[in-house]
Amino acid sequence: MPEAPATVAVLEEAARACRGCELWRGATHVVFSSGPPHARLMLVGEQPGDREDRAGEPFVGPAGAVLTDALDAAGIDPAAVYLTNAVKHFRFEERGKRRLHTTPGTAHVLACRPWLSAELGIVRPAVVVALGATAGRAVLGRPVRVADERGRPLEDADGRTVLLTTHPSAVLRLRGRPEWDAAFDGLVADLALASTEAAGAAS
Ligand code: URA
Repeated sequence: MPEAPATVAVLEEAARACRGCELWRGATHVVFSSGPPHARLMLVGEQPGDREDRAGEPFVGPAGAVLTDALDAAGIDPAAVYLTNAVKHFRFEERGKRRLHTTPGTAHVLACRPWLSAELGIVRPAVVVALGATAGRAVLGRPVRVADERGRPLEDADGRTVLLTTHPSAVLRLRGRPEWDAAFDGLVADLALASTEAAGAAS
């Protein structure tokens, strides 16, 4: 019997049973992705946060609000982008009743990489935007420094155009400080460049 064609929905269903690393144990949901399955722009974050873990949806918390504002400011319809994460389960430390974000390790990124590869194969975005160093490492397959490599098109191992930029959480942390404007504007400029690259890419 021929295999059913893979879809994002099929992947998401399969990911619920993923035991590729230990992070599923503490998580409420696997947080897979949102957005159109054939979007021209794919945005890859680090991992779901507390709010995303509870909701089962990526970027629905405070970092997501910054990202939505930045997409709007870059002239990109937030509903037209495919949003996913390098790691699909929330990694955290418990402090009393609070669950504090802990950066995923290389082993978590590697364990989750097959999901991201499968998503790339289905969505086939014209441009991938890696939000922060963990996403950059997952997408490009090597350690990255955002400050050194942002603002210019890079290529992944399959020749796909990749833009590396700051994570919206890093911008969020600067709220109320003088550095906020430059950080937000930098994120907007990188997203706008990604949109221009996607518009110029053959479909
Ligand atoms: N940060 C991320 O990287 N991803 C989310 O989904 C939420 C916050």
